[in-house]
Amino acid sequence: MLSDVAAEIGATSLSRSLQASTWMYPITESFHLLGIALLVGGAFIFDLRLLGVGRSLSLDSVANLNLMLSRRGFVLVVLTGLLLVIANPEEIILNRTFQIKMALILAALVNVGAYHWRERKGLGSWPKAHALLSLGLWTSVIFAGRFIAYT
Ligand code: HEM
Repeated sequence: MLSDVAAEIGATSLSRSLQASTWMYPITESFHLLGIALLVGGAFIFDLRLLGVGRSLSLDSVANLNLMLSRRGFVLVVLTGLLLVIANPEEIILNRTFQIKMALILAALVNVGAYHWRERKGLGSWPKAHALLSLGLWTSVIFAGRFIAYT
């Protein structure tokens, strides 16, 4: 089932042209890394502020800048990540580490959503717990991304 989807993606003209090009893969992967820097950089600075680092800076100003960068980085990693999948669908989609990576990204997004939802509702969030979870989950996503090539 999943292998049929992968085969269909592999037969598209976009996939074929990505496969035929020497430079498209490394260029896309470089933009993927740039997106990761923005996403994880922004998220980590905000998480560290939640944990009490840089208390002299207001939480709002740290959030405004870093979460904006983080959201833009996320858009970039998703777009470039999809291109990387399309370039190599049969190897990537069926790869167990890639599947784990997708589950970790989902968990990280649920954690972000839960933090902001509880804040908005005034339910009293547990900022430090969300921050630690965020640091751990995004770090695990980076490890999973790097390990795809070796598993
Ligand atoms: C929907 C989102 C994403 C998709 C579809 C995706 C997909 C991919 C694919 C297909 C690769 C190439 C694997 C290979 O050929 O070795 C890759 C590499 C990688 N990804 Fe993602 N990715 C996504 C989001 C992320 C995020 C959010 C992070 C980190 C926070 C991340 C971190 C990495 C890393 C570190 C690599 C290895 C880069 C390298 O070896 O040069 N990815 N990703």
